[in-house]
Amino acid sequence: MFKRGVRRLTAAVLALALLLTGCTPAVEVDAAVELPEGQKLIALTFDDGPRRSTTTRLLDGLAERGVQATFFLIGAQVEHNEDVVRRMDEEGHQIGIHTFDHVTLTGLNQADFGAQVGKSREALKAVLGHNDFLLRPPYGILDESVKRWAGCPIILWSIDPEDWRDQNTRRVAAEVVAEARDGGIILMHDIFPESVDAALEIVDALHAQGYLFCTVDQLFAARGIPLEAGESYWNAYP
Ligand code: NI
Repeated sequence: MFKRGVRRLTAAVLALALLLTGCTPAVEVDAAVELPEGQKLIALTFDDGPRRSTTTRLLDGLAERGVQATFFLIGAQVEHNEDVVRRMDEEGHQIGIHTFDHVTLTGLNQADFGAQVGKSREALKAVLGHNDFLLRPPYGILDESVKRWAGCPIILWSIDPEDWRDQNTRRVAAEVVAEARDGGIILMHDIFPESVDAALEIVDALHAQGYLFCTVDQLFAARGIPLEAGESYWNAYP
């Protein structure tokens, strides 16, 4: 996982360099990442997808910008969107679970928890052939049972523009850019067209400020913080 994360981050560094300088630096793609001292990192994360129309447009925009993000998917929406999920994986994005039916995970017995998280994991594993998915509980609500049964790291967030509230591109983009901080995790939803527009504006604005976008795994790996199953993480602030 770490190795794959490093390789992807290298690609992101190259893409950013290309974006900023207009030329490809003479760096071997598979070389270990040497991030510049003080490099600002930030992770874009998207919940509640995939939704074919909006998620596809987001993937197009991220690909144009050489940016990798992390997607916490609804298990029930994986069916009929297998190609979209496969594309995320192939393009270096990280994938996590956001339950099968978008339910609150606290108060469930272990069988019902399994029907939400385990079933989503199986669906993703069947499409992608690997089984290393993060978990983001809906509404960020968790308890000791969720931690005990998660079977993977639990990823929350540090920057939440509540993009679902008014679906206002300008407000959402401005809020995230204002709150951006090295090591932050941004929460958005790729099921709204306005959020896709806002996310791409955010990428452009923060690239101009020298930020490097990376997946959750890459963010924590770069900061030397091991992600452990059953533990929850809100940010990788220095
Ligand atoms: Ni959600």
